[in-house]
Amino acid sequence: MLVGSGGREHALAWKLAQSPKLDTLFAAPGNPGIAEHATIAALDVTDHRAVIDFCRREKIGLVVIGPEAPLVEGLADNLRTIGVPVFGPGRAAAQLEGSKGFTKDLCARVGIPTAAYVRVTSKDGALAALDDFGERCVIKADGLAAGKGVTVATSRAEAEAAIDALFADGPAEAVIEEMLEGPEASLFVLSDGTVTASFGSAQDHKRVGDGDTGPNTGGMGAYSPAAVLTPELEERALGEIVRPTIDALAEAGTPYVGVLYAGLMLTADGPKLIEYNVRFGDPECQVLMARFTGDLVELLLAVAEGRLADEPEPAFSPEVALTVVMAAKGYPGTPASGGAIGGIDAAQATGAVVFQAGTKQAGGKLVASGGRVLAVTATGADVKSAQAAAYRAVDAIDFPDGFCRRDIGWRAI
Ligand code: AMP
Ligand code: GLY
Repeated sequence: MLVGSGGREHALAWKLAQSPKLDTLFAAPGNPGIAEHATIAALDVTDHRAVIDFCRREKIGLVVIGPEAPLVEGLADNLRTIGVPVFGPGRAAAQLEGSKGFTKDLCARVGIPTAAYVRVTSKDGALAALDDFGERCVIKADGLAAGKGVTVATSRAEAEAAIDALFADGPAEAVIEEMLEGPEASLFVLSDGTVTASFGSAQDHKRVGDGDTGPNTGGMGAYSPAAVLTPELEERALGEIVRPTIDALAEAGTPYVGVLYAGLMLTADGPKLIEYNVRFGDPECQVLMARFTGDLVELLLAVAEGRLADEPEPAFSPEVALTVVMAAKGYPGTPASGGAIGGIDAAQATGAVVFQAGTKQAGGKLVASGGRVLAVTATGADVKSAQAAAYRAVDAIDFPDGFCRRDIGWRAI
């Protein structure tokens, strides 16, 4: 059973469905794209008791949890109490994403390279802490914020405005940190609690506008692999950042089982951790799945059952995969809902795969029902040809109430 309803989960469903080991795939809550590969289970996934009962009734052999919220809320722990193998960390290990302060303290304790920081719990404390950082600093709300809790401030006034906003509604927790410089890359690592396996790299495009301008979003496009993360830098990131984290969690008795997404800044002093996510990225998952050539059911089950040591290294196509997100106009503010979507078959006839995120069926038609709506994904020999293939498919989509960036992959090109 797959938990989630986004483009990430459509990509997971698409790949899980290719496995000869799969009997039946259920998904909750799912979406119309996921429904092409899975039986939608009428379940409220925030009702853990209902999910447990469903897993018992259907004799579910593996649960794959896509998004962070159910992980932070302990769905994996609750399922493990009845012995179901789960791909996804328990509540304690999910604090790596659920609390920025938890992650920074862990880094400090075991010497993981990351930006210098202070944790603050009051406005006065936050303003006083600014003195330690000069003109440039980064201010982060402590908890889950759907990519919207971070301000990269380049002046004291900007930093103060971010602090005002953070504490406007009363008490809050935040982290203030040193601004790091360099190219960013995301590294994905599977962990079964003790053994790790690299699952490839990607680069996301977080800003809404071409040339990386405008407000932050959940991600407007991505490509994989991220060539800036050379094999040498990846080995350093694994050895200095990811493995010490997995070891620390295992020692604490809260082993990390699932995929760990490390957001890295490749600084002049080597890779430094910007943040962890406790799940696949969205839309990074779409490009990883487009390149992964192995059996996803077998691999994720081996992770869930602590058997990663017996698995071959995850294998990927040498091609570049690139995905372009088509969002509803208004995103990341209030997206226009209900816009008709056509041309998916025409887009896929070009060889691309169209993953669905915020879509629904209404009156027999596919319409938009969220901010990010489609992730149009293609592969090619290099970033340039993958980009050309992805935009050929984008241009076959008929979504008048949507928009996309036209430059995904520009840094690499
Ligand atoms: P996060 O939500 O922590 O990934 O932050 C969102 C974005 O803010 C990152 O992708 C970076 O581009 C930027 N960012 C976060 N922390 C730092 C930092 N310490 N230095 C520079 N940029 C940062
Ligand atoms: N695309 C960024 C994320 O999934 O967090």
